[in-house]
Amino acid sequence: MQAMLVTDLYDQYLIDEKELITEEELCFEGWIKTNRDNGSIGFIELTDGTCFKTLQLVYNKENLTDYDTVAKYLTGCGIKAIGKLVLTPDAKQPFELQCTAIELLAPCDETYPLQKKRHSLEYLREIPHLRVRTNTFQAVMRIRSVLSMAIHEFYQSQGFVYVHAPIITANDAEGAGEAFIVTTRDDGNYKEDFFGKKTCLTVSGQLHVEAYALAFRDTYTFGPTFRAEPSNTPRHGSEFWMIEPEIAFADLDDNMELIEDMVRYCIQYVLERCPQEMEFCNEFIQKGIIDRLQAVVDSDFKRMTYTEAISILEKAKEDGVEFEYPVYWGCDLQSEHERYICEKVINGPVFLTNYPKEIKAFYMRLDDDGKTVAACDLLVPGIGELVGGSQREERYDELLKRMEDMHIPVEGMEWYLELRKYGGVKHSGFGLGFERFLMYITGVANIRDVLPYPRTPNNCMF
Ligand code: 4AD
Ligand code: MG
Repeated sequence: MQAMLVTDLYDQYLIDEKELITEEELCFEGWIKTNRDNGSIGFIELTDGTCFKTLQLVYNKENLTDYDTVAKYLTGCGIKAIGKLVLTPDAKQPFELQCTAIELLAPCDETYPLQKKRHSLEYLREIPHLRVRTNTFQAVMRIRSVLSMAIHEFYQSQGFVYVHAPIITANDAEGAGEAFIVTTRDDGNYKEDFFGKKTCLTVSGQLHVEAYALAFRDTYTFGPTFRAEPSNTPRHGSEFWMIEPEIAFADLDDNMELIEDMVRYCIQYVLERCPQEMEFCNEFIQKGIIDRLQAVVDSDFKRMTYTEAISILEKAKEDGVEFEYPVYWGCDLQSEHERYICEKVINGPVFLTNYPKEIKAFYMRLDDDGKTVAACDLLVPGIGELVGGSQREERYDELLKRMEDMHIPVEGMEWYLELRKYGGVKHSGFGLGFERFLMYITGVANIRDVLPYPRTPNNCMF
């Protein structure tokens, strides 16, 4: 085969139709999605991975000496196709490739699991190395990539410093004992262990990034976090990614403003840059999702205190709404409560603020009433908690007291307390679960289907 212009679908679909190269021969490399023929003319739907759309290849007996061989190529084969692009204004695709040659690059046999029929998401979870070739995962994983950049661009464009918080850590940030232990021994003798002490995979980069916020003012982390909680739900991963901004000279209101700006910016970014993928989600994953997301971009997020939420939930109970878990001031809100508030009461994103101190982490700033803390959780329909954040306790004595009350050992946390001694100005931050955000944007209902290789209890394939 002679040398010729090798191109990809992404480039072709970007070009205005009038500028498409239709005179010269072009070469495309990709994989067969479908191949059908009637003995004299055949059609291959080709995907090359560079964009969501596919290319129709047309081949016929007159042009192709090996027509009969090509007609036998199966779904999944890697091929190279050469021909001229022809505009097809009446077809569902804007153009097709009239092939003069089709070369087999890599065979695929009939045991290939991804045949034309639709597969359940549950089945696809068993083949994470192949499921990424399906339309659903092509859409979701490209949006995942674009959403990552949206986050970076949002913060970078405002001068935030990106901090790589450590993955291996000597402290368990939330104090909840849900960390995976990192060890090279099998006897649990941490003193003799690799680091000479007990270490874990991080559950949150917050404490480490607080130190950076008190030097750079505006900072964020964006990295993997690990939780050994046995929660087997559609919203919990044992390994997930979290964005944790931390901003100095900022209170709870500044924090909520930042969360709201970020969520709106990122949704808009994805809607603009992934129109084909979002159309697919809109049609096949969650009907109407584009309109719902657009409404979120165009609206202000509602705010409500925990105390107000409790009275609404108590009222709902009186009116006959049934909750599995009890509702009373002081209770930790369950997913059913959170979803009732944002789905039934607000019908959109809502911040719940000022939770009882007993149910929140030790580092949250105590409110003047001495009962609640300056926390804010962002709840969204379909997901529940998307963001958890707070203003941090910047007063040394108050923080020490909270740690004592909550039995958090000071040993190993001296550095964190020291931040309060040396210019520890007020500061705030939050954590946004990246996968939950991706679920919210794509409409995917299970976290296992937005993680490339999900890790959940009893599940770590490859
Ligand atoms: O509410 P969380 O536990 O907050 C923190 O970790 C704080 N240190 C954050 C901070 O203030 N810097 O977690 C934050 C978010 C949750 O709102 C949720 O979206 C997500 O992280 N998240 C999970 N996502 C997937 N799987 C899990 N197991 C998750 N646990 C929390
Ligand atoms: Mg939380």
